[in-house]
Amino acid sequence: MRTKLVAGNWKMNGSLASNAHLLAALSNTVFATLNAQLAVCVPYPYLSQAAAVLAGTPVLLGAQDVSEHAKGAFTGEVSAAMLADFGCRYVLVGHSERRSFYGDTNESVALKFAAAQVAGLTPILCVGETLAEREAGVTMQVVSSQLDAVLAKSGVAALSTAVVAYEPVWAIGTGRTASPGQAQEVHAQIRARIEQADPTVAANLQILYGGSMKPDNAAELLRQKDIDGGLIGGASLVAEDFLAIAKAA
Ligand code: PGA
Repeated sequence: MRTKLVAGNWKMNGSLASNAHLLAALSNTVFATLNAQLAVCVPYPYLSQAAAVLAGTPVLLGAQDVSEHAKGAFTGEVSAAMLADFGCRYVLVGHSERRSFYGDTNESVALKFAAAQVAGLTPILCVGETLAEREAGVTMQVVSSQLDAVLAKSGVAALSTAVVAYEPVWAIGTGRTASPGQAQEVHAQIRARIEQADPTVAANLQILYGGSMKPDNAAELLRQKDIDGGLIGGASLVAEDFLAIAKAA
């Protein structure tokens, strides 16, 4: 039985003051009423603030990107070991905004995934197709090539300490959610693909859905057989909404 994971992706939002309010609300949740593990992926400068407020709670900490390099002359980059130093458990790799605005490729994402695992972090590998790709009928080819780059670099066993997030690009921040059926179909295909390589890894792999998941659509999405949680952008910035999604799991 896979446990559900509901992870917030704050993206480039927040301030010390607004984070204090949001983190306090999260840390005051009655966790016993939740079926889901909670995590928040916060901007780098706020990792220590989040770590301090969430200490002693079951909410896990994550970052939104990581360097593929371990250390050295890479101005502006942040290594996986640094994230581990600040108490991160998770790190997003290959988010579509990194892929489309910052040049992340399947190959660089595979390197970031591997670097995260070397430091003991659990990468959340984001995959998903654009609207044009969906309309062209190549959703699974796109998602498979995103997965295959990681499998080629790290091997299928590496997915036993990783999470996959299926995020159709056309659903991110648009208010246009994949229908539960559309999402379940891709999730099942992702699991089937991993199953070909290792049935046990596939059976235990958490596959999150991301893309305009909100309190009013979360329950139905999270009820799907192969949807093991959510990666929540906009709604993770409002404590009540994030917690309502977690309660729906
Ligand atoms: P959204 O973002 O929930 O605002 O659509 C999801 C994500 O990009 O991870």
